[in-house]
Amino acid sequence: MPGVFITFEGIEGSGKSTQISRLLQYLTEQRRPVTLTREPGGTPIGDQVRRILLDPLNRLLDPTTELLLYAASRAQHLREVIRPALASGRIVLCDRFSDATIAYQGYGRGLSVPVIRELDRIVTAGLRPRLTVLLDLPAETGLGRARGRNTSQGLHGEARFENEDIAFHSNVRNGYLQLAKEEPGRIRTVNAARSPEEVQEDIRTIVDEVLDKAM
Ligand code: TMP
Repeated sequence: MPGVFITFEGIEGSGKSTQISRLLQYLTEQRRPVTLTREPGGTPIGDQVRRILLDPLNRLLDPTTELLLYAASRAQHLREVIRPALASGRIVLCDRFSDATIAYQGYGRGLSVPVIRELDRIVTAGLRPRLTVLLDLPAETGLGRARGRNTSQGLHGEARFENEDIAFHSNVRNGYLQLAKEEPGRIRTVNAARSPEEVQEDIRTIVDEVLDKAM
């Protein structure tokens, strides 16, 4: 039985990590076979690429270099983790995937969206998530949360993108909302500006619905 590929998207501070780990716990309690992974990274080679991408010292990283590195991490991730897990019937929960590249490199950095889509088709050979959960909230709220988290953990400018301004993150958010408008069947938008419990409840309802149909 083929597995089910579910991705999670949202701007910085949208609460993805918390929500994904709660969902993992919920699905594991139901004894469902789940693989949890993320991009960029998810493999030893991908994690090396991730370090380049998120190093705040890499200020000279060209947007096209950046795009290609995200693509490289994805190619490795598909081969080593995502495809094998799906082939063995597992549910794959992935923290970010192709939509992030369109939102960040396309809407955020201003690279050509058709070019990004074409590159992504080459990298994924057309593999698309069955479901994408978009955790949506205003850029100001998300960034405030992300910066608070970094400061409390003693991390300063942990990720390069957290140093970008509100306008950049608003563009990324608008990109995600545009994608959700184009593909309402796959991308389900959840209001993330609420308590973690309320957000999780919505996510579980959506995921249950998709899994009931698929498995
Ligand atoms: P995260 O682990 O906090 O989600 O950080 C990953 C960062 O990488 C985040 O700022 C979004 C960014 N990103 C892109 O710009 N393009 C991509 O294709 C992916 C997967 C992530």
